[in-house]
Amino acid sequence: PLTAQVNAQDHLEVGGCDVVELTQRFGTSLYIVDEVTLRTACQQYRDAFKQHYPGESLVIYASKAWNCLAIDAIVNSEGLGIDVVSAGELYTATKAGFKGDKIYVHGNNKSSEELQMSIDQGATIVVDSWSELRSLAQMTQQQTARIMVRLTPGIECHTHEYIKTGCIDSKFGFDPSQVEQVFEFVAQNKGLNFVGLHAHIGSQIFELKPHEDLGAVMVDWLTKAQQHGLSIEQLDIGGGLGIRYTESDDPPSIDAWAKTVCESVAAACKSKDVPLPKLIAEPGRSLVGTSCVTAYTVGGHKTIPDVRTYLSVDGGMSDNPRPITYQSLYFAVVANHMSQPMTETVTIAGKHCESGDVLIKDASLPPTQAGDILVIPDTGAYNYSMSSNYNRIARPAAVLVRDGNASLILERETLDDLLRHDRLPDHLLAAQ
Ligand code: LLP
Repeated sequence: PLTAQVNAQDHLEVGGCDVVELTQRFGTSLYIVDEVTLRTACQQYRDAFKQHYPGESLVIYASKAWNCLAIDAIVNSEGLGIDVVSAGELYTATKAGFKGDKIYVHGNNKSSEELQMSIDQGATIVVDSWSELRSLAQMTQQQTARIMVRLTPGIECHTHEYIKTGCIDSKFGFDPSQVEQVFEFVAQNKGLNFVGLHAHIGSQIFELKPHEDLGAVMVDWLTKAQQHGLSIEQLDIGGGLGIRYTESDDPPSIDAWAKTVCESVAAACKSKDVPLPKLIAEPGRSLVGTSCVTAYTVGGHKTIPDVRTYLSVDGGMSDNPRPITYQSLYFAVVANHMSQPMTETVTIAGKHCESGDVLIKDASLPPTQAGDILVIPDTGAYNYSMSSNYNRIARPAAVLVRDGNASLILERETLDDLLRHDRLPDHLLAAQ
């Protein structure tokens, strides 16, 4: 899906820009975001929900995948809403132009400041727990808060243990045994403007069945809420559609996922004879994941005879913590020798002081030497957003490319940025 090709210099081109030139201009490590790919994914989601759902729908971007001004602004301009999980994500979204009616605030432990900020913005708060529900009831004596209630659907799915959220043993949401009590509480607190229900089963999911089941489960809850006199305007079925990181990955298309979700909710509503709620989906990874590649400069090689060759790059787990965290798989290309045969098997190591800082084990590559530009595609989701300054390595820059133009969207951090929040107490200053 990336608007990429190989140019006459045998270099990789993304969004009409020569990646080697981009690295000369902006340095490495470098996140390169293809605007057309991101916009296309937004449009595919929007169109699919319009086509497959007979009622109103809204796709909201789970911005935990990558939240910064430029990405949020693109998503906003495509007419999507946004899911945020912290004051920082909320602040960025509002600065990027999102208005409260399209902002949904998640999180299993929102602070009272975050709750108040959400109320002030007119955002919808997705209530996760009893303590939050009680705080909100207190806070809404003089004001109202738009809320949704998050329930744990008890649906299993095949993905990494750390990114499953729908099982009963989850830190998120109310467990279904609490549903009736929650509805009763909400119905009694007039400051709580209840708009609907939310559930999310997990991330990087390829099966459609769990999402099909989820639709039916949620409509069941919807009828329960009605019995408590609560009208459900909105049903938020979460995100979770996986993307293809390696050849063996075979995710369904955005359209197929949307069709499953829409048809399942519509059919369940029909069978229970309830009006169609506004259907909300909140994809993150599948909106932004394939739109970015990360470019690194190749440094040293280390060959251990009969064992392996390590090739080191100038980034690693600080700009892409997914391999070390979830054993996630990626592939790589050499941006300055795109058509050379892949005759070597090397392990691509990051520059961090940990043996586990390996971006790709046994990658197939053409022969490489120091100074080559190594590119890892599909790094748009949960890379920048989970990046760190481990080993006091500055975060990379990010550029947005389109039609041969590149614009900086995140400046490269400087050494002084790394010291910005450091303070030396007087007694240590005196000793210097
Ligand atoms: N909605 C809720 C409530 C979520 O918790 C998430 C993801 C999403 C939507 C978006 O899910 P997606 O469409 O992106 O799968 N850092 C991990 C993924 C964590 C997902 C957290 N929640 C990774 O790098 O794989």
